[in-house]
Amino acid sequence: MKERLQAIKEACFAKIEAAVGMDVLNEIRVEFLGKKGELTSVLKSMKDVAPEDRPKVGQLVNDCRAAIEERLEAVRSALAAKEREEKMKAETIDVTLPAKKSQRGHRHPNNIALAELEKVFIGMGYEIVDGPEIEKDYYNFEALNIPANHPAKDEQDTFYFNSEMLLRTQTSSVQAHVMEQGKLPIRVLCPGRVYRSDEIDATHSPCFHQVEGLVIDKNITFSDLKGTLAVAATKLFGADTKVKFRPHHFPFTEPSAEMDVSCFKCGGKGCRFCKGSGWIEILGCGMVHPRVLRMSGIDPEEYTGFAFGVGLERITLLKYEIDDLRLLYENDTRFLKQF
Ligand code: DAH
Repeated sequence: MKERLQAIKEACFAKIEAAVGMDVLNEIRVEFLGKKGELTSVLKSMKDVAPEDRPKVGQLVNDCRAAIEERLEAVRSALAAKEREEKMKAETIDVTLPAKKSQRGHRHPNNIALAELEKVFIGMGYEIVDGPEIEKDYYNFEALNIPANHPAKDEQDTFYFNSEMLLRTQTSSVQAHVMEQGKLPIRVLCPGRVYRSDEIDATHSPCFHQVEGLVIDKNITFSDLKGTLAVAATKLFGADTKVKFRPHHFPFTEPSAEMDVSCFKCGGKGCRFCKGSGWIEILGCGMVHPRVLRMSGIDPEEYTGFAFGVGLERITLLKYEIDDLRLLYENDTRFLKQF
């Protein structure tokens, strides 16, 4: 019996010695110590041993088992240490490698122009107000005196969700929202994104930005409109800037006008920039139509007001002498960093 145990132990040790990985070690454990293993079969054969020798033989089997377990554990921990070391080696980080630089962005020229515009009007006591881009037909058209069959609706064709909801075509839609709140007087500037189903070219985009201004108070006249916009123009385009108002038509203002500024490139003499006229068209404006006031719950006998709407991209392109609108939307940092 002693010899048999010794043989088992030696065979086992030899296998452990040759083992190359954890899997093999586990197989060896099962082979020698498992339920169907060699040592177990030795224990089963104890019935053939004389009763007085049994404790001794049992002791021998246990010693053999302990020796195998000890050897298995020693090799297992050595293997684990080796595997860990290899893993660490494979995963080393070279802290001397140059770092990836995170690229810093740049303020968009549209935002620079908008910040300037906001600063001018905040200085005159205006509040900056936001409105929804997904808008009810009512606020975009109806409340601005553009009923369902009005031809102005054709000029501002847009993206409809259904007969009631659309993407707003103009920031004028914020006017009725502000007026409905019932707090008077009103002095607001409403910048935001607007949408029209236009093809993209150097001067058109299906999505662009407008900035709307609205003032409602007692005794507001066309002189207030002219004075306000004349001051704003000098702040934006230079102290010598002159303004000119041409009669126009907008359904939501009466009277309505378009405002031109004297060309800040040639000072009004006429150049390539202003196409020889000396003037550059800038915005639409007018006195808020009494019907628009009434629809939003304001008594036109008591209150009057003016409004204006300017295309933000138009200001940006003029200010920075950019000749293609599309450049503003490509987000090429080489372009954006110039401003
Ligand atoms: N919403 C007009 C447009 O998109 C611009 C405009 C004109 C706004 C006159 C106004 C205004 O507030 O009074 O063409």
